[in-house]
Amino acid sequence: VGPKPLAGKNVVVTAGGTVERIDPVRYITNDSSGKMGFAIAEAARDRGASVTLVCGKTDEAPPHGVRVVKVDSALEMREAVMERLSEADLVIKAAAVADYRPARQAASKMKKTAESLTLELVPNPDILLEIGEWREVRGGAAATKPFVIGFAAETTDVEKHALDKLKRKKCDLIVANDVTAEGAGFGSDTNIVTVYGSQGLAEKLPRMSKRAVAERILDLAQAGIASNRPS
Ligand code: C5P
Repeated sequence: VGPKPLAGKNVVVTAGGTVERIDPVRYITNDSSGKMGFAIAEAARDRGASVTLVCGKTDEAPPHGVRVVKVDSALEMREAVMERLSEADLVIKAAAVADYRPARQAASKMKKTAESLTLELVPNPDILLEIGEWREVRGGAAATKPFVIGFAAETTDVEKHALDKLKRKKCDLIVANDVTAEGAGFGSDTNIVTVYGSQGLAEKLPRMSKRAVAERILDLAQAGIASNRPS
């Protein structure tokens, strides 16, 4: 492995939480800090990749040398990711995509009344699942491109849920973390993850900085890309 092992590769990373608007001043989001995705984007950049970071809500500063595409909602994130798939060699979906969005977005600020208010939510598309399906539909040798990595933030039965997601969403690797563990998950500068592939356990990592986790994920991605390459 040379010093720039991802030179010439297009890498798409998603990070942060999506923002699902209720009206012009109110929204639903989640606790994702974006730190894991940003660490991956920076690590991939330093390995020579051309990196696009599709980024929802985050407080992180945009990294130098990375193309940052700011998005709000899951629908916007889906569009930004899907339109880049045919160019991508590697897609890493570290974003926390909201599972639901308000069924209607009010054009002006909603007024308070004495009545209780019910907010109707509709399911968002699952972007990772759509990437897996897109790749499958393309078929042939191209079916191995891009290499796709998903994340699974779990609180119970981490391995079982991660393996289920890997299969259902047809991705190549799933990075699972127990977000209830100390030093793991949202907002933390460290993470504790286990990576699963189609053969089962790929790597169980101790508590590490998110940058160090990013480096290990990219090592696994590079090995995967190399073995997927049609000979
Ligand atoms: O929410 P879930 O645990 O299923 O998320 C696992 C993976 O799927 C993550 O990589 C996340 O970015 C992705 N995801 C997505 N679109 C969704 C929900 C999740 O791409 N609507």
